[in-house]
Amino acid sequence: MAWFGRKKKPEVLSDSALPVHIGIIMDGNGRWAKKRGLPRKAGHSAGAKTFRKITRYCSDIGIKYLTVYAFSTENWKRPEDEVRSLMKLFKSYLEEALADFKDDSIVVKFIGDKAPFDEDLRNLMIENEESSKDRDGMVLNIAMNYGSRDEIVRAVKNICKDVQSGAVLPENIDEQLISDYLYTSGQPDPDLIIRPSGEYRISNFLLWQSAYTEFVIMNKLWPDFETSDLDEAIKIYSQRNRRYGGV
Ligand code: FPP
Repeated sequence: MAWFGRKKKPEVLSDSALPVHIGIIMDGNGRWAKKRGLPRKAGHSAGAKTFRKITRYCSDIGIKYLTVYAFSTENWKRPEDEVRSLMKLFKSYLEEALADFKDDSIVVKFIGDKAPFDEDLRNLMIENEESSKDRDGMVLNIAMNYGSRDEIVRAVKNICKDVQSGAVLPENIDEQLISDYLYTSGQPDPDLIIRPSGEYRISNFLLWQSAYTEFVIMNKLWPDFETSDLDEAIKIYSQRNRRYGGV
């Protein structure tokens, strides 16, 4: 990959060591707010600013795919007030920040089931996908109402339907075919997943896709996460020896 024409080149590594696809579990917003005596929604607002900064940075340094975990299928269990403020935040960011991404040619995709969101939010999600689909920059997957088990269940149901209709022959079901039925169809698996806030959990994020992903856990809470932390995560990743089950 050439760096010519890029706004920035991370000082940490050679071109070949740069991950193609990064996933981020944006965790720690609530603890960040609590530490400051603020309501949890203030943590999510601060987290949204970090999301914007890190997304732009990933695009600047030449990351091809970025998947961020914004709202899980399990997050509906949070107090009503918190869910409401998250939905408000998503709406305002889809209106403002995503319009911004136009300058960076970012392609926006939502992974997850859009159905439970209210009509305004759903329309904003669709508009953002439609208006960005012909761009040629980084693909930004925003996981909203996403759960990897739910994604796999949907894939299995759709494969069954296609087997019933004769579109798929059972003997042709292989790993590639299953990948093609996931929300991330056509995209490379993540090379690196970063989880800030020090938790050692995958939390139902990209279970199938992360079979050979390198995990980097960082002790920063997401709202405090800086571009230098991303550089550090990439540096740690570049020093790993990826063997994919071989030697
Ligand atoms: C997890 O932290 C974070 C979330 C459930 C929400 C993530 C959402 C954002 C960062 C908003 C920006 C996203 C977009 C698309 C605008 P937590 O609340 O579980 O933190 P805790 O573990 O410290 O309680």
